Amino acid sequence: MRARGVSATVGEPVTAISGATRVVGVIGSPVRHSLSPALHNAAFDAGGLDWRMLAFEVAPGDGAAAVAAMRTLGIAGLAVTMPHKADVAEAVDALDPAAAALRSVNTVVLHPDGSTFGASTDGDGFVDSLVAAGYAVGGRRVVVLGAGGAARSIVYSLGTAGAADVAVVNRTVGSAEECAALAAVGRVGTVADVADADLLVNTTPVGMGGSGELPVDVAVLRADLAVCDIVYHPLETPLLAAARELGARTIDGLGMLVHQAVHQQQLWTGSSPDPQTLRAAAESELTPRA
Ligand code: ATR
Repeated sequence: MRARGVSATVGEPVTAISGATRVVGVIGSPVRHSLSPALHNAAFDAGGLDWRMLAFEVAPGDGAAAVAAMRTLGIAGLAVTMPHKADVAEAVDALDPAAAALRSVNTVVLHPDGSTFGASTDGDGFVDSLVAAGYAVGGRRVVVLGAGGAARSIVYSLGTAGAADVAVVNRTVGSAEECAALAAVGRVGTVADVADADLLVNTTPVGMGGSGELPVDVAVLRADLAVCDIVYHPLETPLLAAARELGARTIDGLGMLVHQAVHQQQLWTGSSPDPQTLRAAAESELTPRA
């Protein structure tokens, strides 16, 4: 619903916040560098929705209190970032299948009856970002580098999206085992598995912030190996640059951020924003940081 008394057309900012404005929040610690408010508010504006997202710094350990506060204050939804994803999974009333498997929530919806629903949209956002780039994961052999929270979401969704094989490569083998177990086709792998893979996904922070490092030796890359890096700062990581120079298909990390946020908006508002709106907002936020 458009704010009363505002004559802006669709796509222009809805500036008037009224008593009817719906509020969602992003909780995290630290939260001030979160891109979520920029992405979500751009989508609310473009859709003419009288909704706003604000960032809330929530101290470690206070994730359950934030869920209780959303009930008290009528906050319609939360985006959840580190370090609250596991605590919030315990605090909500119901979970979607991904959040239940991962014991991790990145999205909370407050239903009209006061109950809370937790979802994990990261993995499906990752798969959607590949689809949007023209790459279907069904039947693919995939190597995932890293076994942290992002890798766990990705491996789970690669499994549900029909990947043929998912090899998890991580320096800590115990984490790789737990991560691989999230997909029926998951297994612990080594870098040697890249030779038979269709898709390589980096979920480690290697290459972030201009370090110039690659998470694997450039020699394992091939023109027919698609490469995705979920690191988006820089947008073209050294891994993606090396793959592009070989003529390989590359998919950057903003797609996952954008498409998981599209899922969040669908859960909160019931409408689907244009991913390009969110991507443009993310890019303009990131430009000053480059
Ligand atoms: P996220 O939530 O973004 O996935 P995370 O949970 O901290 O972040 O996971 C980071 C992953 O990158 C882990 O798998 C980590 O390996 P360990 O499980 O052995 O800690 C991996 N990682 C972090 N730094 C790395 C490095 N320098 N080289 C290789 N792997 C690294």
